[in-house]
Amino acid sequence: MARLRAAGCVFAEEEAALLAADGRDLDGPSGLVARRVAGEPLEQVLGWVTFGGLRVLLDPGVFVPRQRTALLVEEAVALGGRVVVDLCCGSGAVGLAVAAGLGEVELIAADVDPVAVACARRNGVDARAGDLFDALPGQLRGRVDLLCVNAPYVPTDAIADMPPEARDHEPVTALDGGADGLDLHRRVAAGARAWLAPGGALLLETSRRQAPGTLAAVAAGGLSGRLVTDDDRGAAVVVGTRVTGS
Ligand SMILES: C[S@@+](CC[C@H](N)C(=O)[O-])C[C@H]1O[C@@H](n2cnc3c(N)ncnc32)[C@H](O)[C@@H]1O
Repeated sequence: MARLRAAGCVFAEEEAALLAADGRDLDGPSGLVARRVAGEPLEQVLGWVTFGGLRVLLDPGVFVPRQRTALLVEEAVALGGRVVVDLCCGSGAVGLAVAAGLGEVELIAADVDPVAVACARRNGVDARAGDLFDALPGQLRGRVDLLCVNAPYVPTDAIADMPPEARDHEPVTALDGGADGLDLHRRVAAGARAWLAPGGALLLETSRRQAPGTLAAVAAGGLSGRLVTDDDRGAAVVVGTRVTGS
């Protein structure tokens, strides 16, 4: 605990208890404490994160699911559906939580990063590797009820201002959304309609500041958009629905 506190960990006591409970090498040069003191996110050091009430395995170099993303999960579960896609899945946490909330679903996930795909597979998710929709099996076209996407949306210039835990231990492909942060949102929104079932919905995590741009992208993609926010969690989600008959 003293080493964690000296390294600036605000919740040193809680973190020490979690690391000690793990039963692995705590004190060696590559032990859990040394990794944490070197700035690796606690969740990557532990190898798991609690998200949406689930324990999700997390490998080094894989994006740490943020608690604000639970808003996207809650919206997806409220909408309901049987065919769920978790695009830009990282560890697969979003898809797993949506599936847990809905019960019987067909869940397919995809990510461009093979390390993330391997992690999602370790979590039992049918995860495919590739660039956005290229990774999805063609038989999903026009059948997706819920297209859940937490894509990178940090503007390139803002990455340098992120905490070192993110900047140094999460891959830039998991953070960088291009000049205004919305490159991936525009690409996802442009392609989503072809994959959605009539009445199906695209759910895109965004920020309050970027929400007008995400909404515009969704509208340009032929979807009917609305914004859901939760200021307590600093969360914003754009929901784009493929209107029935369109
Ligand atoms: C912000 S992280 C979110 C991960 C996960 N959805 C979550 O909330 O924990 C974004 C993810 O998108 C993936 N990604 C970035 N560009 C991609 C692309 N062109 N196609 C598919 N996945 C991509 C990254 O590898 C990363 O895992």
